[in-house]
Amino acid sequence: MSGPRKSLLLGACASLLMLAGCGRGKAPDAPAPQVVSAPHLTYNANAGEGEKLFERNCIGCHAAKISPVYPGTYALAKTRGDQFAIITRRKDLNAQTVSAVVRNGIGFMPAFGPTEIDDRQLAALAAYVVEPRP
Ligand code: HEC
Repeated sequence: MSGPRKSLLLGACASLLMLAGCGRGKAPDAPAPQVVSAPHLTYNANAGEGEKLFERNCIGCHAAKISPVYPGTYALAKTRGDQFAIITRRKDLNAQTVSAVVRNGIGFMPAFGPTEIDDRQLAALAAYVVEPRP
């Protein structure tokens, strides 16, 4: 390993050791960590639910990247074209279509029944998928 790289690495190790040292020496009555406010991470309640449902049930196949790793996005790119691949960026989908696809499944995509996603959740999920995005 060459000079500057090695010293960078040593530097990183030293800071890690210092951090670890600080942790151990902490007074038992140290103040609780501050909750940092992050407005960009705040969603309204409904959007939050739809997004959570999407992340739990759909993103594994429909992440916003055309790659064989995401079979939904990938299949749509192959069969319909790249501009139809990412369902959260499409302008041609509406909530009814999304809900019908989720309930019935399509091709390789499984159907999701009301015990997995109930009607109220489906409404939030579909609204999230078709939400206008820049
Ligand atoms: C196991 C992978 C998988 C999961 C999970 C999955 N999908 Fe799909 N989805 C696909 C595939 C593959 C297609 C393309 C099917 C075809 O056209 O043959 C598709 C198609 C779609 C379409 C149709 C788009 C169109 O052009 O008609 C929508 C909408 C959709 N999925 C929404 C969802 C939603 C919402 C969820 C979560 C509840 C979800 N999918 C979960 C794989 C998946």
